[in-house]
Amino acid sequence: MDWGMSNRISRIIKPSSGKSVMLAVDHGYFMGPTHNLEQPRKTIEPLIPYADALMLTRGVLRTSVDPKRDVPIILRVSGGASIVSKTLSNEAITTSVRDAIRLNVSALALSIFVGSEHEHQTLTNLSRLVDEGEDYGIPVLAVTAVGKELEKRDARYLALSCRIAAELGARLVKTYYCEEFSRVVQGCPVPLVVAGGPKLETELDAFQLAYDAIAEGAVGVDMGRNIWQSEHPVAMIQAVREIVHERATVREAKQAYDEYLKTGPKLLAKPTVPAN
Ligand code: 5RP
Repeated sequence: MDWGMSNRISRIIKPSSGKSVMLAVDHGYFMGPTHNLEQPRKTIEPLIPYADALMLTRGVLRTSVDPKRDVPIILRVSGGASIVSKTLSNEAITTSVRDAIRLNVSALALSIFVGSEHEHQTLTNLSRLVDEGEDYGIPVLAVTAVGKELEKRDARYLALSCRIAAELGARLVKTYYCEEFSRVVQGCPVPLVVAGGPKLETELDAFQLAYDAIAEGAVGVDMGRNIWQSEHPVAMIQAVREIVHERATVREAKQAYDEYLKTGPKLLAKPTVPAN
């Protein structure tokens, strides 16, 4: 692997643990001002010290993240549909690699919709993006999206999607946790991270998801709503870091979460980048 590519990936997947806690805040690109992400800067700012990377669009990056913050950026470059359109899968590449380079990003992210009416279009989007990304040493993270019309969160479907993404050249793949997740991992020759999905009922449910995903071979999480829709987002991301980087159990993560709530601003986990 070329130096630039390798360097960018190791900014995101921390060499010390081989794992990553990515913070997903790209939801507005099709969901608009989602609950607790109405003012992106307000949501993102306190979480930056604990995120190994931020996944977001260029609009939110430019308006809502201080360029002095040293946090790797995974730039969402696909879009073109919304929650009120007929289908979520009708996506195109929405940002040039030239603009991504201008923004000094560490990776590009794009969704594919295997099994949807736009399967071909989103898969060829991925191939084109990989070609361009490889030219400049920028890894592509493929998101195996499960839209409202694709309620197929099973290992067979996700293994198919993830494998296709890797075959087309994605250096990283993001998918969903499912039963028999290890089958998805085994069939995918590149590192996998899992999304959190819609907010789960309790913190414990989110810790369990992260724990199971890591135990079954994911290299990390790319979590959004289960962190910033939590009542205590900073405690939440710190507890998730304990699971992902420190191999904490669900119980230990909950203890870390409770401890943070008691001690307030005292930091329990080492932040990934110093706070301003
Ligand atoms: C949408 C995305 C989101 O980033 C992804 O769903 C992760 O966020 P969450 O944990 O809230 O599901 O890629 O396509």
